[in-house]
Amino acid sequence: MNEKLIINADDSYRKAEMQASDYFQILKALVSEKTYISTLTKDIQSWKHNHIRPYFFSLGRQKTGSRGYHHYIRWLDYTGKLESYLDRSISYIYMRDLGKALDSPDTQSRVRRTVDTLKNYLIDRNNKHETFSIAGLYRWAQKEGIEMTMIWLLDKLKTVSVNIPEGMDAVHAQRKLIKIIAGVIMHVLEEMEDDVSPEKRIQKLNEAIRLGYAYGLTYPFIDDLLDSNILSAAEKKRYSDLICTTLTTGTVPRLGSWAGNNSNLIRFIHSELRQAFEYIKAHQQEATRKNFFEQAYVFYHSQEIDRMKDLNNADYTNEEIYIPIILKSASSRLIARSVISAPEDEGFDNRTFYYGIYNQLADDFADLFDDMKDGAVTPYTYYLKYHDRRPDLINPFEVYWAVIANLIHNVYQSDSKTCEVILGRAINGLKRFKERVGIEKYNEVMNFFSVGNSKFNHLIQKMVRKADDVDFFDKLLRDHIITILKNDQKERDEFFSTIETVRNEINGMLKIGGHNILLGDPIIDAANYSLEGNGKRLRPIITWFMSVNEYGLKQSAVEQLLKSLEYMHTASLIFDDLPSQDNASSRRGRSTLHKTYNIAIAELTGLFLTQKAVEEQTFLDQFDTKTVLKMIRYSAQMTADMCRGQAMDLESKGKSLTLEQLNVMSFYKTGIAFEASLVMPAILAEAGESEITALKKFAQHAGIAFQIKDDLLDVEGDMQLLGKPAGQDKENNNSTFVTILGLDGARKEMWDHYCLAVEALQEAPRNITFLKHLLDYIVNRER
Ligand code: IPE
Ligand code: IPE
Ligand code: MG
Ligand code: MG
Ligand code: MG
Repeated sequence: MNEKLIINADDSYRKAEMQASDYFQILKALVSEKTYISTLTKDIQSWKHNHIRPYFFSLGRQKTGSRGYHHYIRWLDYTGKLESYLDRSISYIYMRDLGKALDSPDTQSRVRRTVDTLKNYLIDRNNKHETFSIAGLYRWAQKEGIEMTMIWLLDKLKTVSVNIPEGMDAVHAQRKLIKIIAGVIMHVLEEMEDDVSPEKRIQKLNEAIRLGYAYGLTYPFIDDLLDSNILSAAEKKRYSDLICTTLTTGTVPRLGSWAGNNSNLIRFIHSELRQAFEYIKAHQQEATRKNFFEQAYVFYHSQEIDRMKDLNNADYTNEEIYIPIILKSASSRLIARSVISAPEDEGFDNRTFYYGIYNQLADDFADLFDDMKDGAVTPYTYYLKYHDRRPDLINPFEVYWAVIANLIHNVYQSDSKTCEVILGRAINGLKRFKERVGIEKYNEVMNFFSVGNSKFNHLIQKMVRKADDVDFFDKLLRDHIITILKNDQKERDEFFSTIETVRNEINGMLKIGGHNILLGDPIIDAANYSLEGNGKRLRPIITWFMSVNEYGLKQSAVEQLLKSLEYMHTASLIFDDLPSQDNASSRRGRSTLHKTYNIAIAELTGLFLTQKAVEEQTFLDQFDTKTVLKMIRYSAQMTADMCRGQAMDLESKGKSLTLEQLNVMSFYKTGIAFEASLVMPAILAEAGESEITALKKFAQHAGIAFQIKDDLLDVEGDMQLLGKPAGQDKENNNSTFVTILGLDGARKEMWDHYCLAVEALQEAPRNITFLKHLLDYIVNRER
């Protein structure tokens, strides 16, 4: 490497190690003198007054979130516990993530303000969106004026989740990223003055999201990747060296060639991390840049040392076990502050430095069984394996309590709120563990790690059994986000497999028969030529799903309706491509109909297909005649309206339409076909008016979003994938969302319609997850 070193890695690490070693000596002394036991016994004795109620009053206790997030919040509100629950949770977050001291009046008033805001948000019944949903996030971004950054982020999250290799947990990776971004946003909001100008606030929030993403990426793509078995030992070494060089020289080396199965993955990660690194670097202030690199190196290197440990090595000293984890846990939090270039704050640095290991020991305890299985070295697994042979090893559970005592009394100077919150958190950790592993395993673990003082053990176990009001919002949110992400993934997989299967079914139905062998039959051939192209078949797929899955109709009873929808749609494309309209040369991956045949044949085929569509509808003989007539009337009106829409489109060439006009035109030319694919089966199934109204509203916004995406793809799409020429709109001087609002303007408009469509679905009398995923597909599609 010719790059100049900007930090001396060894020196930086040694300096950090010395500080960690001093801290560890304090903890060791607390453990060997056992002073923490009497201190904490006193603390717990007074803490328990607020947490243990007489049996009589503790009726109606409820397991945390066991019946779901919303239910639990409502229960807290109903029992009057919401306020104290949020106060405890927010205080904890201010202490842990923002490095605040809870005895400061300023922090207290900020905590109160946050609690109020959050409480109002949680109990607001008009709140249309799920706490964590794309539409909810986008609406928030609109309120803050940071739409483009949110769109950028949604795109990034999607890219990351599709690039997480098998063998790594995509849900976990997404959750961590989200958590870190949220943490950075919180930090930035916290650093922001009350009188900051709106422009500055927007700029700060935009940066926070990008910095959070950039920093958050290191979790799945450095730490988790190196922890997993995806890379070979040699690949890991090469990858680690790359990162080490980056952190010590401040420049990302070129990747060079990377052989083997992981080359695409590594290329993706390298490019993504390089951009992330450059972004963070560019946002560092000159004065703190070196400090940032030192911290980043300490973070990285301590993790590496920790990762390299081998559970079969019986000779690690206590120092070798604990010092790297003190360093990695502290630096992971310290660096979050450096990433945003916050001003130096010694109080923050100190508190955060001492705090880290507390979390690490709590997490390692919770993961004990997994770590055992993976053969990972943590203070717990190592002690479990070697305590017989190694009387010098310290019991990590004792270290854990010593850390707590030290935090409460030395770091936070016996502040009562801090004591309240930390003890609650500690008891909650044990309770959650007990719930998860079951009482038997729990007792086994407790007997093993029990502190050499039976009274203290007793007291703790009594608290685990009896203490109430020790749960925390961030844990609830964590579980909730995991549930949402997992569900979402499962539903999405189902959605794609459904549309794939149904598309194949539909493809098998479309061919029109009756070709006259003697005379030839150009119209039928031409119609089949257009139908055979690789259309997405979205409209009949929607109809199939609504008919069969939602309304319980038989596929055989609605086949004609499915054909009818695709015939109408294909006709509209044939007309749209004609020289008198968009004059397109290709469609559905083949040359357009008028090019392959001729204009007259194309015109006649368009007309022929619309008539075939009506004919098919008249074969729907499993339904009441009046109902079918009603549906045909609706369908004819919609076809007529689509013609009007298409004419508006053609008349608008070169004109500067208003947003409202654009919306109307897109609804008519495109939205209506989506509406029809939802409303026609609803009419057949005799669905109620309120349902039809909600479906229409959904279709309107989903349809317009579909057209905006089409306009975007016309500029940015891949011709090969699209199967139709790109750049047509500009060539034709068409008025589209993109030509009028620009790319970013069009994107914002698309996401706004996305939210409106989600909101329409929430008003529908039934919950149709398929439509939610259809909408996601519409805005994310590449063809
Ligand atoms: C294209 O519709 C015409 C528009 C309404 C923008 P599709 O994108 O659904 O076209 P196919 O059916 O998949 O070819
Ligand atoms: C098509 O709009 C509207 C129809 C319903 C035919 P476009 O003209 O943008 O569709 P593409 O891009 O040619 O498919
Ligand atoms: Mg057109
Ligand atoms: Mg066109
Ligand atoms: Mg188009």
